[in-house]
Amino acid sequence: MNPRQVFVSVLMFGVAGLLLFMYLQAWIEEQHTEVMAQHLLSQDTAPKNWSTSLKLDEREAAEIASFSMNRLSEEQKISKLLLKQFKQVNLPPKLLPLNKSLIKDDRWKSTDETQEKRRSFLYDFCKTYGSENRFRAHLVRTVYRIYVEDRHQILYCEVPKAGCSNWKRVLMVLSGLAPSAYNITHDAVHYGKHLKKLDSYDLKGIHTRLNTYTKAIFVRNPMERLVSAFRDKFEHPNSYYHPVFGKAIIKKYRLNAGEEALSTGSGVTFKEFIQYLLDSKRPVGMDIHWEQISKLCYPCFINYDFIGKFETLEEDANYFLQLIGAPAELKFPSFKDRHSTDERTNTDVVRQYLKELSSTERQLTYNFYYLDYLMFNYTSPFV
Ligand SMILES: *[C@@H]1O[C@H](CO)[C@@H](O)[C@H](O)[C@H]1NC(C)=O
Ligand SMILES: *[C@@H]1O[C@H](CO)[C@@H](O)[C@H](O)[C@H]1NC(C)=O
Ligand SMILES: *[C@@H]1O[C@H](CO)[C@@H](O)[C@H](O)[C@H]1NC(C)=O
Ligand SMILES: *[C@@H]1O[C@H](CO)[C@@H](O)[C@H](O)[C@H]1NC(C)=O
Repeated sequence: MNPRQVFVSVLMFGVAGLLLFMYLQAWIEEQHTEVMAQHLLSQDTAPKNWSTSLKLDEREAAEIASFSMNRLSEEQKISKLLLKQFKQVNLPPKLLPLNKSLIKDDRWKSTDETQEKRRSFLYDFCKTYGSENRFRAHLVRTVYRIYVEDRHQILYCEVPKAGCSNWKRVLMVLSGLAPSAYNITHDAVHYGKHLKKLDSYDLKGIHTRLNTYTKAIFVRNPMERLVSAFRDKFEHPNSYYHPVFGKAIIKKYRLNAGEEALSTGSGVTFKEFIQYLLDSKRPVGMDIHWEQISKLCYPCFINYDFIGKFETLEEDANYFLQLIGAPAELKFPSFKDRHSTDERTNTDVVRQYLKELSSTERQLTYNFYYLDYLMFNYTSPFV
């Protein structure tokens, strides 16, 4: 390398380090200062009385209702006394060995090697950047997306757009709520009240399960997950996302918006959606479908035992089912239950969407999901 190249490399290295530092600091500060109850309120995406302010179809209404109810009960739980108890809960970062006593054949060797790499990768990351002390006051908040399956002693953190519908189906079968994953409709999965969430248990119940159950998370390339969420919620008729998010997005980011678009909220473009996402003064809040995985599942706090990826979903999921001793006939379903005629969101599809954005918007979107990229070792070919 000539001196000029050396200089440029050093400069780039410095800038990258500075960016990393800034993001981690902002993230840690946020985790540190946010009061749980405030957080719950400020992130409220559904209007307080949704039944009066909107006409919703039953499904979406049920989803929002159950979501709001959860929040209410969460808020009630957050008494000062509990907060005090939470602080006594100790969950140091640790890397416990996976119990592989039920794996009898060599078939899973490479899947397992990949799994072990992911586990130690996340552990190293968390050891370096995440201190559990900062999270102690947020136990209920940190487990609010975790589903419980008591028979096989599993905890599963739901990441929308990363195979969660099929995971819920499998959990329902494992817990004896359904005979086969293929019989459960999308509505029964998301609007039935069958599966229990970890935050519905008392502190001891939460603590015991966190310490003894096998904890799984399934993640996905952040950009693919984002595009998948956009396609699902904005490119198909939707009686919640269009009126609530669509209207606000079109009103704020579209110049000379037509009357129809303003009144229906339909037809949001990907670029407009990204403008909303990156706006620190968003006219409507965040949503679980595009919320960062680091904020949904708290990977540095929960010590997940198993890290699956959407990119290798069936292989990872079926290996996990072996590990936990699921019935041999239970296989992870491969179907896509919504908009099943649409092409799946893959690298090529993402590339097409990202063409709508400026390179600055692409970079900022990448930055927005920076921790998700880092924690799960995703590299971005898109920026
Ligand atoms: C919401 O509006 C409905 C219909 O007007 C009303 O019956 C209900 O009591 C309201 N709920 C709250 C929490 O204000
Ligand atoms: C591993 O799993 C097997 C089968 O479920 C169980 O019998 C055994 O006690 C477990 N070992 C440990 C160390 O937890
Ligand atoms: C991280 O990702 C890179 C690129 O995909 C891969 O080569 C590497 O093995 C991964 N590292 C771990 C620890 O999984
Ligand atoms: C479940 O699906 C199987 C196979 O598709 C079918 O034979 C069976 O009747 C279904 N059971 C129920 C309860 O719907």
